[in-house]
Amino acid sequence: MNKNLRAAVIAGNWKMNKTRPEAKALVEELKPLVKDAACGVVVCVPFTNLETVLEAAKGSNIKVGAQNCHFEKSGAFTGEISADMLVEMGVEYVVIGHSERRQYFGETDVTVNKRVKAALAAGLNVILCVGEMLEDRELGITDELVAMQTKIALNGVSKDELKKVIIAYEPVWAIGTGKTATAEQANEVCAMIRSTVAKLYDKAAADALTIQYGGSMNAKNADELLAQPDVDGGLIGGASLKAPDFSIIVNAASK
Ligand code: 13P
Repeated sequence: MNKNLRAAVIAGNWKMNKTRPEAKALVEELKPLVKDAACGVVVCVPFTNLETVLEAAKGSNIKVGAQNCHFEKSGAFTGEISADMLVEMGVEYVVIGHSERRQYFGETDVTVNKRVKAALAAGLNVILCVGEMLEDRELGITDELVAMQTKIALNGVSKDELKKVIIAYEPVWAIGTGKTATAEQANEVCAMIRSTVAKLYDKAAADALTIQYGGSMNAKNADELLAQPDVDGGLIGGASLKAPDFSIIVNAASK
């Protein structure tokens, strides 16, 4: 597997953090720190911050993403946001199927698949999250479970559409816990995802797919994780809320 065949992307997932003035300040601080990055840089921010962050990031190499979108184009879905609404604003990325949405908001593999297809149809780049819970890992079913999540999420996604998909492997037990997967564990599952994608599409499509690791990635452990042959980037929670930390990770991915 040749890492040069695919783009390295570091994405921040701000989750439910930052008011608009705080969001603007964070992006302003980040811009000069990541301006020479040799990898993709994305910040996925709360819906209420999108306009502010799009404006602040204008003319820079920072791309903007949302953290979810609905699968219908419009209608009676109180509290939801459609993919078209995001595109109209100038948003380019969306996180789909984050484990927090699966755990707390009833997201299933089937609704993840619907959202992936709707986001791609609208022209968004998708950061598709998969990952096992601690119980799954202890039961020894990580590979089966993550392969299943990947297959269902990509059901009906064409090879051409796959070019706009990034898969983020986020073991749920490593998210926000300070407990990172070892570089070997992260690489093993990322490689398994790649071979699942090779079976679904073909080797060229799998070789071109950017696969991120997420789960307590930080300024200290990023180098080792990003040096793994199948880890092409990171989806960063806590450490993306501090510009110096996030920029260290971006610069680690730029090596
Ligand atoms: P932490 O980096 O805070 O563990 O969060 C990871 C994550 O869930 C990113 O989507």
